[in-house]
Amino acid sequence: MKKSGKAKAMSDVLDLTGAFNSPKHQHRVSSRTSGVQGSQILRIAGQIRALQSSGEAVCNLSVGDYSPQEFPVPKDLILENMKAFEEGHTNYPPAIGLPEMRDAVADYYAHYLGLRYPREGVVITSGARPVVFAFFNAVLNPGDKVVNPTPSWNTHYYVALCNATEVRVDSRPEDGFLPTRAGLEDHVKGARILCLCSPGNPTGTLFSEERLKAICEMVLEENNRRTPEEGPLYVLYDQVYWPITHGGRKHITPVGLFPEMAAYTVFVDGISKAFAATGVRVGWGVGPSDVITGMSRYTSHSGSWAPKPAQIATTRFLAKRDVVDAAFKDLQEALEARLGRLSKGLQVLIDEGCPLRFVDPEGALYLTLEVKIVGRKTPDGKVLENNEDIRTYLLSHAGMGIVPFEAFGVKNALAWFRLSVGAVSDNDIDSLMPRLRDAISKLS
Ligand SMILES: Cc1ncc(COP(=O)(O)O)c(C=O)c1O
Repeated sequence: MKKSGKAKAMSDVLDLTGAFNSPKHQHRVSSRTSGVQGSQILRIAGQIRALQSSGEAVCNLSVGDYSPQEFPVPKDLILENMKAFEEGHTNYPPAIGLPEMRDAVADYYAHYLGLRYPREGVVITSGARPVVFAFFNAVLNPGDKVVNPTPSWNTHYYVALCNATEVRVDSRPEDGFLPTRAGLEDHVKGARILCLCSPGNPTGTLFSEERLKAICEMVLEENNRRTPEEGPLYVLYDQVYWPITHGGRKHITPVGLFPEMAAYTVFVDGISKAFAATGVRVGWGVGPSDVITGMSRYTSHSGSWAPKPAQIATTRFLAKRDVVDAAFKDLQEALEARLGRLSKGLQVLIDEGCPLRFVDPEGALYLTLEVKIVGRKTPDGKVLENNEDIRTYLLSHAGMGIVPFEAFGVKNALAWFRLSVGAVSDNDIDSLMPRLRDAISKLS
């Protein structure tokens, strides 16, 4: 084949493979970078892929993502994205978000959550992650205290990225692994951010009105006590799963409970989880306009705004209330059915005497499971001493991929795991149960 005018001949290509093998200097990345670890969940996902490619049957309950085959993105959102590209919306959007997209989010919150924010209270980002990153950077000085109730999703990485100080407060199984005012009270003094998430990842549980009210009252009391120089205690309210609540439960917000909380609350949200659109990368932060303006400096310089075609598409999609209602209903019902199937299967094993216990799923795509097999011996004579041993045994002997609560910042999470139904079929769940029964029965 004839080469184009600009293509290099093979002999002119500088081969850099191996050029980085013996670097002279040790500190090639900053100490901050060294402190931000890679995701444990991705390591588990790698092991599962390896098993699957060797032909083993694996029920992959480890991913907090949706399989497009099992939970497809709404067709309308796909068509609107294609249309936006065809219409040529391919240049830069404003870094804070297109005005029409910011208005669309404000209308969406008014319609579904009963909260009317001005355009200035909304920043549009490439998924929900940049909201957390920008918010932390916008309000934290180095060393500032962040109270992070655990188990929690990746919040601790963002604390490290800001050189802030994290205070982890472990929540209890009997509280559905959600924080309580009593558990937090001793820690909020002097803190700048309290992280809350409902419906919870990894817990799959929701704040009740009573529980969230008590926490908001504590935040308001703390803020009323502070002098202006001290700065406020903010709440990061991560509600990326808010439309997915099960058993007729209702999602509630700090601002819906107490309008005074608006000055202190930043919502983290987007289309990733609400519409099974994790790869489309549209998220938003909603909060006090001075904080949102500060946040937009970080999204601007890190270039973490949402792609313009995706913003145009999402703006049009969110405005179609019937389509959005149907999308919410389809996804919620499908997830509730899948979680119901998983719970039922596990309950059968429990009734037979298997040492398992689970927290009833109330929202999102998760079920929290306790596998009480620590101290037991595998057929190869190995004693299961910790969650990593249990996880590895269940993966290799039951083809069950799960994530231990240590991955969500809990120090003493013995026997507790997150199960996600986002990437499994009914058949995957059904065929797991006999394998799990068999693997547990082989322990002595
Ligand atoms: C609780 C929670 N917040 C935020 C995110 C980030 O969402 P996104 O993929 O839109 O960045 C996730 C993703 O798993 C999550 O579970």
